[in-house]
Amino acid sequence: MSATSLRPPTMPVKKAIFPVAGLGTRFLPATKAQPKEMLPVVDKPLIQYAVEEAYAAGVREMIFVTGRHKRPIEDHFDMTFELEVALEQAGKQELLDIVRGVKPDDMECIYVRQAQALGLGHAVLCGQRLVGNEPFAILLADDLMVGNPPVLKQMVDQFAEWRASIIAVQEVPPEHTRRYGIVAGHPVNDRMLDIQRIVEKPAPEVAPSRLGVAGRYILTPGVFHEIANQPRGVGGEIQLTDGIASLLRREKVFAYRYEGRRYDCGSKEGFLEANVELALQHPALGPGFRDWIKSLPL
Ligand code: UTP
Repeated sequence: MSATSLRPPTMPVKKAIFPVAGLGTRFLPATKAQPKEMLPVVDKPLIQYAVEEAYAAGVREMIFVTGRHKRPIEDHFDMTFELEVALEQAGKQELLDIVRGVKPDDMECIYVRQAQALGLGHAVLCGQRLVGNEPFAILLADDLMVGNPPVLKQMVDQFAEWRASIIAVQEVPPEHTRRYGIVAGHPVNDRMLDIQRIVEKPAPEVAPSRLGVAGRYILTPGVFHEIANQPRGVGGEIQLTDGIASLLRREKVFAYRYEGRRYDCGSKEGFLEANVELALQHPALGPGFRDWIKSLPL
């Protein structure tokens, strides 16, 4: 009998928090009056990619932490009656299926407001009452993840085995450590690391490793208590990383090197890369787009 099979069964991950209340300053002026999570990559807004990833991982309760200017996100996952009637009357069944598929019937969307953008940790705390006492996922929609199986599904499978919090990580260039939470710990296999330290946005000279946190987490509810007791951290914000650093003193937290590709769509460069690469892979648009790129005088 393996060590894991002796542990008590854990609850499945049925809820996810999508913190979407940030100001999106790196993407101004596009994000002056519209949420960055609604920026489309090819033909879908960023938030839809994240929600589809969560759904594919078995999550059915989507909790959006929103702020001002974020109404378009609520509208996107709502029924668009006039549009559906118009498409139905025009016999455009394929488009109707696309519109209706945005929110499958067995998926629930719940919205809670973060009145002030006080940081990612604070945004996650706004979802506490809706999550309750069960494990939950966090997805940052501006990190667009492409993986097969989808990255959150890979993590849910790991969670079922390890029954402890899991954070997605990837190797980052030394000069980029200031952009990420950085973790260090003991490897337990090729992909998993038993985290001993986690630090928010360290300078390269003091970074404990080059493993940067990507925007996918599965956390136990104990993290809420830890976040609630955090003072403001880097940038004057209440940091999720600091809450996880506290959680480490009480529970095991693992880092998981996911299989797949991440696009930082909160930055203009990452967003452009995602659009080009996903357009090239698109079954209908890809071939023509490839020809057009080849014809450019590069
Ligand atoms: P970012 O660090 O990307 O911040 O937040 P931001 O404000 O959205 O963007 P920049 O850096 O100014 O360009 C990571 C995620 O956390 C959410 C953001 O919406 C984003 O999905 N967030 C951040 C909140 O929901 N509330 C906050 O107070 C801060």
